Amino acid sequence: MVNTRYLKKTPLMEQYEEETGKLAIWKGELSKQFEKWKKKKGKETIRKQKLEIISQSREEKKKMKKDAKSDKIAGKDYEHLIVVENLHKTYLLGTTAVAALRGVDLVIDSGNFIDIMGPSGSGKTTLLNLIGGLDTPTRGKIFLEGRNISMLNDNNLAEIRRERIGFVFQFYNLLPQMTAIENVMVPLHFSGKLSRRGKRKRSMDLLRLVGLDERAHHTPSELSGGEQQRVAIARAFANDPAIVILDEPTGDLDSKTGVMILNLLRDLNRRGATFISVSHDAAVSEFATKVFHMRDGKLTHEGKIGGLKETEIMQLQRRQETEINKEKCKSKIFQYLFANQGKAEIAISEIKKSIPSLIIANLPENFNDILQELIEENNLFAKIENDRLILR
Ligand SMILES: Nc1ncnc2c1ncn2[C@@H]1O[C@H](COP(=O)(O)OP(=O)(O)O)[C@@H](O)[C@H]1O
Ligand SMILES: [Mg+2]
Repeated sequence: MVNTRYLKKTPLMEQYEEETGKLAIWKGELSKQFEKWKKKKGKETIRKQKLEIISQSREEKKKMKKDAKSDKIAGKDYEHLIVVENLHKTYLLGTTAVAALRGVDLVIDSGNFIDIMGPSGSGKTTLLNLIGGLDTPTRGKIFLEGRNISMLNDNNLAEIRRERIGFVFQFYNLLPQMTAIENVMVPLHFSGKLSRRGKRKRSMDLLRLVGLDERAHHTPSELSGGEQQRVAIARAFANDPAIVILDEPTGDLDSKTGVMILNLLRDLNRRGATFISVSHDAAVSEFATKVFHMRDGKLTHEGKIGGLKETEIMQLQRRQETEINKEKCKSKIFQYLFANQGKAEIAISEIKKSIPSLIIANLPENFNDILQELIEENNLFAKIENDRLILR
């Protein structure tokens, strides 16, 4: 009787006694065990509550995992590049749940330039992050190239992000201490496929593609917003992604620079990658092949709305810009012809490849006409025939 004391039994103590067959009222060892048990119980209850909020039930989570396994096998050949089914995402903030996505269905086919528009807070970034494998849904499925990625673990998701997806963010997200070319090289380091020299070459080619090869050794702070975004776009293309995800790509740029970036993106999109962009900027939708609207975590409807029209000043600036590009284009053609002297004929597509996309995408007239003009102005012994330049 010396080292025991009777306490008033609480329901928890009763539960403990029932579960363990021991008395919960003893001081000393038993009491410690009871305290331990209580702690564990408490944690479990919190965990249970969280699981319930997140996934409705354990059963549902289990079912999602099981579905994912069978989907993976079925996903070898696929009809649509991306299929999103009944997607939900609920964030937990302390004890309150925020429903960011509330049942999104979406099908995206290869080659499109999708724009998802919606007000701030409507769930656009959340949707992109899920499609891009940066986060996992609480309910629903996402198929990328026929593979259900909604229940993959972090390692598998990281691999998909690295191999199949490029990201462009509103604030560029470049590494400030690195130069433009080093920033573009970062994803190449992670995929580890190229030699050091191969990485440099590929990065330089990408910078040329966005018209920034001459700025390769500048750090982000030495570049304008538009230039930084072009570096970010080059970086997004480093691993030749099937899908490029753009979160407000022009959100931090003035409208003129925004239009230049959009022209570049449209040109890059035509080379084959599928683009999914979100914005609350109507100008982006002018460049898209398909537009979806989002509100309160749901896609509301599909279709284009009349976007922002270019003002007269913007048009004038754009005309001047394109005239300058035409001159740049001609001098690049010259450089190319000079480097390829002695050839009897050259595919025009090869000449085009040597010219930055940003220039090609912003020309006042079509490329062949400019080439023809250059031939005539300089009395070159050359003619255009079936998309080839015949040199005599
Ligand atoms: N990591 C997070 N934790 C908690 N709530 C979040 C988180 N991310 C987004 N949310 C909430 O989810 C909703 C949708 O956000 P978001 O997808 O960023 O919308 P948008 O990109 O359209 O502005 C908002 O209410 C936002 O506050
Ligand atoms: Mg956002």
